[in-house]
Amino acid sequence: MKYVVVTSRCPVSHDRTGGREILRRNVGGVVTALHQAMKTNGGVWICWGDGNADVNYPVEQYDGYTVARIFLNRYEKHGFYDEYSNGTLWPLFHYFRERVRYLDESFETYRAVNGKFAEAVKKHTDPDSVIWIHDYQLSLVPELARKLGITNFMIFTWHIPWVSSEFFNILPQAKELVDSITQADMITFHTELYRKNFRESCERISPPEFNVDDRTSAFSLGIDSDYYSKIEETANPLENLQKNGKVIFSIDRLDYTKGLINRALSVERVLKKYPETRGRLHYVMMVTPSRTSVSEYLKMKRDLETEIGRINGSHGDIRWQPIIYMYGKVSDRVLLSYYRYADIALITPVMDGLNLVSKEFVAASRHGILILSEFAGAAFNLPQALIVNPNDINAMADSIYSAMNMEPGEIDRRLEAMKTSVTRRNLKWWIEVIEKRARALMSNGKVISAHGH
Ligand code: G6P
Repeated sequence: MKYVVVTSRCPVSHDRTGGREILRRNVGGVVTALHQAMKTNGGVWICWGDGNADVNYPVEQYDGYTVARIFLNRYEKHGFYDEYSNGTLWPLFHYFRERVRYLDESFETYRAVNGKFAEAVKKHTDPDSVIWIHDYQLSLVPELARKLGITNFMIFTWHIPWVSSEFFNILPQAKELVDSITQADMITFHTELYRKNFRESCERISPPEFNVDDRTSAFSLGIDSDYYSKIEETANPLENLQKNGKVIFSIDRLDYTKGLINRALSVERVLKKYPETRGRLHYVMMVTPSRTSVSEYLKMKRDLETEIGRINGSHGDIRWQPIIYMYGKVSDRVLLSYYRYADIALITPVMDGLNLVSKEFVAASRHGILILSEFAGAAFNLPQALIVNPNDINAMADSIYSAMNMEPGEIDRRLEAMKTSVTRRNLKWWIEVIEKRARALMSNGKVISAHGH
């Protein structure tokens, strides 16, 4: 299929630092997945050029496809990205009601920026292109592109949770969002629950003329499992720690949805409840910077670091600190070696659309145990993990303790079952099922006539 892909983030950015220009590859899960599809099929990828040297590359060829960038001034970036996308929609769709900001002005900017994306879609679309729009930053693009006369088959993929209809209804622009997204011919989510919530939101707020079930699907994004499982041998960076005890590992963007403080508290609870783990439990917590222009994200960093300092100060000694905290970017190679050798991965977001880290860990791990939040979309795909409620510090502590003491046979049985599902439902599978479904819908007259093709 020849796609016009539309995302907020670009697959690559150009940055100028110290007089030198560098090409930065965006390593987020969604962008990596789409890069695979585009590499194979060619096409155009429309995205926001936020690199400080991107203006020199409005349109460029990259790895077999075209990247077409749109540019935002500071005011547009603030209203679109910091305010409406990440100050309103992000907390709303992760059930953080008290964090949702209601600013009419930022919605206007968001709409105008979505309009810029729609204009770019018009510019780069051929009659045979399939338009594939992604995520909450671009919810108004389907409708705005239709208004510009685009009649091509359109897919919209929503990558974060879709909340219950009563919760969604608190958004003043709820109707605008639903009316726009339902302009797409096919809408995909990562879980059945999000798809059901979306259907109920449509029914409650603005029922479309068609049956929502006919146009929506739940396909959980997979990873490039070969990449994670077939990596070359590397030295074990955790070897010294493992001489005396077990290593728990996690990596996340610094975000309030990830429940990082609860994880630190659950480790503290293990130490208090099971004193024999003192000196023998090493929690390696890696955190990568994210959305640093949004004020809440800066405060969150201070809060997390204060808590980690308190826990290490109260429980650690000259030879041992329970939490080894690292804040910064990490290379793929280093990350893979942590995945491979960690004894336990503690992936317990309070709410997460999917969580690809859990799948990456499963694919790369040798004998690891996954502790996974029931509120990560991936929990539906990985029932053999130790599934926990991330708000229940005591239960999380018990899961950590039982993981530290699990029999090797049981560890391997659980891991093998999860490896099988991650390999079967990998990235290639995800792209294929979406294409298959799109072809089926395209040959269905009802959908096509809905937009007057
Ligand atoms: C989530 C969203 C993506 C987003 C990513 C990183 O995974 O679903 O759409 O790109 O976070 O966030 P950022 O604000 O850096 O794009």
